[in-house]
Amino acid sequence: MAKLYHRPTLTKNFLKQITKVKNPDAMLEEAKLEGLEKTLGVWDLIILGVGAIIGSGIFAVVGIAAAGGAESTGAGPALMISMVVAAVACIFSALCYSEFASMIPVAGGAYTYTFATLGEFAAWMVGWILMLEYAIGYIAVACAWSNYVVNFLKGFEAYLPAWLANPPVYLVNDFKSASGILTDSGIDPGSVIPTVLGVPVCVNIPAILIILAITMILIKGTKNSAKMATVMVIIKLAVIALFITAGAFYVQPENWVPFAPNGMRGIFMGAFIIFFAYIGFDALATTAEECKNPQKDLPVGIIGSLAVTTVVYVLVALVLTGVQPTSGVSVPAEFLKAPMAFIMNAVGMNWAAGLISVGSIAGLTSVLLVLQMAAARILYAMSRDNFISNKFQKLHPKFHTPHILTWTVAFVAIVGILTLDINVAAELCNFGTFTSFIVVCVAVLILRKTDPKRPRPFKVPFSPLFPALGIVCCGGLMIYSMQFLTTSSLLFPIWLGLGALIYFHYGYKKNRKYDNKVHAEKVEHKKQLKKTGSKK
Ligand code: ALA
Repeated sequence: MAKLYHRPTLTKNFLKQITKVKNPDAMLEEAKLEGLEKTLGVWDLIILGVGAIIGSGIFAVVGIAAAGGAESTGAGPALMISMVVAAVACIFSALCYSEFASMIPVAGGAYTYTFATLGEFAAWMVGWILMLEYAIGYIAVACAWSNYVVNFLKGFEAYLPAWLANPPVYLVNDFKSASGILTDSGIDPGSVIPTVLGVPVCVNIPAILIILAITMILIKGTKNSAKMATVMVIIKLAVIALFITAGAFYVQPENWVPFAPNGMRGIFMGAFIIFFAYIGFDALATTAEECKNPQKDLPVGIIGSLAVTTVVYVLVALVLTGVQPTSGVSVPAEFLKAPMAFIMNAVGMNWAAGLISVGSIAGLTSVLLVLQMAAARILYAMSRDNFISNKFQKLHPKFHTPHILTWTVAFVAIVGILTLDINVAAELCNFGTFTSFIVVCVAVLILRKTDPKRPRPFKVPFSPLFPALGIVCCGGLMIYSMQFLTTSSLLFPIWLGLGALIYFHYGYKKNRKYDNKVHAEKVEHKKQLKKTGSKK
């Protein structure tokens, strides 16, 4: 009978095996044995949360969400409503994350929670999908960082050497962006972009350099990274506060009329676009093993950082749409790229625009820190479960951080930067995040039924209503957006299929061997039954 567990073939137990859940107590036990250093307190968590959330979404993408002209799809002044809709979609999931994080405080976030409720295959798939959010989203933010730095350096044209102030487009962009920029300027991309063996080559050097720098910081230690994130968060909140207070003096209430030029369609599309700006609070759940007091601190960190961000975003939306006409008129291209800096320039406060660029770079740096840290922590949990080789699990001898996995994420991101279109990367990141949010809401409902007595230091209020609303809000926004985003809507199922293939060729086989404790226990149990001659 035990032989069944050696055979990586379809058996009558197949479904049972791939839906095998991992006991949360076993997870807690494992975490205790191999745990990471516990250094994070509640403030570190709120800082990491705000650090992960406020980034390219509010410094760049918000311009597209605000554009309410007839030719645009954004919300116009109703952007503040889109902000609230996106926040509401997130808050239900944030509550569900908090319940899990306080109940099973181990590395892995949604991946771990799925293993405890929906079983092995679903857990692997969620881990794989989370890589879209953290590793592929990371690529989009690294490229946005590169754009900001290049624009910032351009501002010092008079003092810097030409190669630094005006680098060749193919050294600071992906292929699609570089071709777009050259074509817009009337230049044939083929005449500028170099080729290797006939293949055009664009290398976004600033994006690669920031990834290498972030990797080294993360390997040095989580506490150090949290300290660095603190500085970045203070800078970015300070420049946003400057924008809100200075911009408030230039608000003209007539710019808010008509309030929703593109109707409900604009509001929902705005909410989908701006959803990217809220991504990140869930990354906190992946640091559970490094928290001093996860049961109490994680819910406060997750919900607190989301609340702070929502207030900041709504205020930014009020000022943005109050100063810049967005209702029924087309907005300037510069507003779409960097709306806050554009507005400060437009009202004659160029110095404030410069500070906002610095704040944007700081903001994006902290997002990068948390996204890469979360990706490495999820892979860490996955290698512990034999979905990827547990050789990757090795901690750094001096810094006790998962250095091999941190380098792995950096490697994947660099490959992505060399090959992917960044807009598609950002859309895939949104799809991955929606899916993981939905799964966590479902998982809360399941565990309430299957393990009702487990202590829950934090409970989602009004369950099952709130988790169900989380599923409806995230699912609705995702399905709604899919009709407009054809490339990523096609790539998303391909990503899922690839994940399933990898599972059946590696994780499934590996987990049928004796080296996974979950299965080993079952095999041991079967062996005992065989010895005593009883039948199951
Ligand atoms: N929320 C993060 C950002 O806006 C991903 O950059």
